[in-house]
Amino acid sequence: MAVSMPYPLLFIVFLLFIIADFVNGHPGVKYQLIRRHDLHPKWGLRQLVHSDMIRVGAISRKVRRQVREDRYEPACNNGSREHSSGELPMHSGADYGVGLYLVKLRVGSPAQKVVLIADTGSDLTWSKCRYKCRGARCGRRQRRRVFRADRSSSFRTLPCSSTTCKTDLANLFSLSRCPSPLDPCSYDYRYSDGSATLGVFANETVTFSLANRRKARLHDVLVGCSESARGQSFVAADGVMGLGYSNYSLAVKAAGRFGGKFSYCLVDHLSPKNVSSYLIFGSHKEVNISVVRIRYTELVLGVINPFYAVNVKGISVGSIMLDIPAEVWDLNGVGGAIVDSGTSLTVLTQPAYQPVMAALRQSLLGFKRLDLDIGPLEYCFNSTGFDAATVPRLVLHFVDGARFEPPVKSYVIDAAPGVKCLGFAAAAWPGASVVGNIMQQNHFWEFDLGKSRLGFGTSSCV
Ligand SMILES: *[C@@H]1O[C@H](CO)[C@@H](O)[C@H](O)[C@H]1NC(C)=O
Ligand SMILES: *[C@@H]1O[C@H](CO)[C@@H](O)[C@H](O)[C@H]1NC(C)=O
Ligand SMILES: *[C@@H]1O[C@H](CO)[C@@H](O)[C@H](O)[C@H]1NC(C)=O
Ligand SMILES: *[C@@H]1O[C@H](CO)[C@@H](O)[C@H](O)[C@H]1NC(C)=O
Ligand SMILES: *[C@@H]1O[C@H](CO)[C@@H](O)[C@H](O)[C@H]1NC(C)=O
Ligand SMILES: *[C@@H]1O[C@H](CO)[C@@H](O)[C@H](O)[C@H]1NC(C)=O
Repeated sequence: MAVSMPYPLLFIVFLLFIIADFVNGHPGVKYQLIRRHDLHPKWGLRQLVHSDMIRVGAISRKVRRQVREDRYEPACNNGSREHSSGELPMHSGADYGVGLYLVKLRVGSPAQKVVLIADTGSDLTWSKCRYKCRGARCGRRQRRRVFRADRSSSFRTLPCSSTTCKTDLANLFSLSRCPSPLDPCSYDYRYSDGSATLGVFANETVTFSLANRRKARLHDVLVGCSESARGQSFVAADGVMGLGYSNYSLAVKAAGRFGGKFSYCLVDHLSPKNVSSYLIFGSHKEVNISVVRIRYTELVLGVINPFYAVNVKGISVGSIMLDIPAEVWDLNGVGGAIVDSGTSLTVLTQPAYQPVMAALRQSLLGFKRLDLDIGPLEYCFNSTGFDAATVPRLVLHFVDGARFEPPVKSYVIDAAPGVKCLGFAAAAWPGASVVGNIMQQNHFWEFDLGKSRLGFGTSSCV
């Protein structure tokens, strides 16, 4: 079975483990982005390695094409320019086998392109990077794509003797090692599957395209230059873009420059990489993404840092409000919910998971249940003859009256040809629930940090 495993199933398996630390852990703890090592042994390593190579090839082809298309335009650096918004192309990682959204960022002077995982649950933005070449490896041509910090005139490492390094960045896993005061402040991220990334902190310039086809530069953005990113975790992307709520997050810094907010439109998560949308800093209106009707709910900042929390009142399925204890959603207690671009599946703590699954299963009794053992996906079925219109609609109700009604395909998800699964993962109680990126697909999302509100609306992202 492992040998003939169809691609989409593999894809789903990859993305399942992205949420694993939420399932097992506590909100607020740095979670893992991609844990491919946790794949069920059944799928076999050989196949993984093979698909990794395909994906790496696809990335480098894409990059070469981008370089040719990239013409220089003078940077517009006028901080007072009112209606400008910065945009970064964004697409689904499905082609690379990951259930994440990838965004292209230009870093350094002159700007170099990197492809990063857009993660509202991370504060640090880091990329695979070459800072200094050492010894014999210096002259050797680099096969993997990295950010060449040694070729950027704006790259400034932070000294390890600084307070920033010693105290402020301790949350970001800075190391206390400091052989000489001006040595760069370094970090060490470790993941439970054995992968790790080591690097140095730096201030760097990032460049945004503006809607008016000009460019804007943002200086002194904290970035991580990862000289090693061991493990298979970061094959699809060069690193991570930190969009979380933190003083070190690129989102917070860029939002400060572009009107206090950022937004993204998530295309269908199974879209190929040539179907793209934008991550936008500032007003989305100029970017001209059509959104059916934006609804707003309170964005609760600062309670579960660096995550974006929301006040949920309940979940209904087919207009029936499910019996979920209020404490499950209580941000001041031990529950609560967050909206996260870096988590694929929607994670519900047990007291919410059970009633949601039970209500949805009712409508699927006519389909043959399949015993597939696909990670945390508990309920899968043979979807021959499936019609989404017969599934009762799930609605997430917010305390302030806003309602989020995702399309059925965002919770009855494709797992393989002819196989669909209920797209929820269970998490232990107490803990936070997570609205993952599959649930957010085909919608526009605006994180308005200035007004503490989250806007959302149905959109085809074009
Ligand atoms: C920057 O914006 C200010 C205020 O709008 C304007 O007076 C100034 O001319 C602008 N500078 C440039 C270089 O566009
Ligand atoms: C890095 O940028 C911060 C502002 O974001 C600034 O306070 C600090 O002095 C800069 N450090 C270096 C080494 O450039
Ligand atoms: C950012 O820094 C300020 C002042 O240093 C502090 O008051 C604030 O709580 C910090 N914000 C976050 C999200 O850490
Ligand atoms: C994307 O690529 C596929 C072939 O790989 C093509 O059929 C499709 O039209 C492309 N879509 C867009 C929006 O360019
Ligand atoms: C924005 O969208 C409208 C309607 O789809 C279209 O007529 C207009 O040309 C678009 N503007 C830009 C700048 O793309
Ligand atoms: C689903 O059922 C149909 C017939 O009812 C069968 O042909 C097909 O192979 C089944 N698919 C899976 C994935 O079990």
